[in-house]
Amino acid sequence: MAMTLDSHEKLFIHELKDLYNAENQLIKTLPKVAKAVNSSEVKTAINKHLAETKEQAKRLERILKEMDYGASGVKCLGMEGLVSEADEIIKEKELPKDLLTETLVSGGQKIEHYEIVAYQSAAKAARELGKGHAADLLEQSLAEEQKALLTLEELAAQI
Ligand SMILES: [Fe+2]
Repeated sequence: MAMTLDSHEKLFIHELKDLYNAENQLIKTLPKVAKAVNSSEVKTAINKHLAETKEQAKRLERILKEMDYGASGVKCLGMEGLVSEADEIIKEKELPKDLLTETLVSGGQKIEHYEIVAYQSAAKAARELGKGHAADLLEQSLAEEQKALLTLEELAAQI
């Protein structure tokens, strides 16, 4: 793709703000998911990832700040869709708890896949733009997302 440095950087900033908004949507939703599931292992995994998610949001804020940008201003529509699906499942009071938990774990896997691709592409852009420190921070978050996905896959196999 032929892109000027300026449009590449603008796209990178947009990706970072989009991720920041995605992480903040998750910070609001994960406690509701943790409350709704009936497995203590799933609850523990979600709460652990909630703490990581808060750090990931801080990392994005830091990267943007170092580039003289604020973190707000973009809404992540992809995450909005994924999070509203989780909200709908939580509201299904008729759903047996085991099935509800299984569906929320599967929803969590979808979310992790989405975030993994977003962090991979943001880290790649950071490297291309010569922003090694930003790339390192993004890769740190990427590794956490990959680990969280693995945990959810293991839990899904047990349910
Ligand atoms: Fe995340």
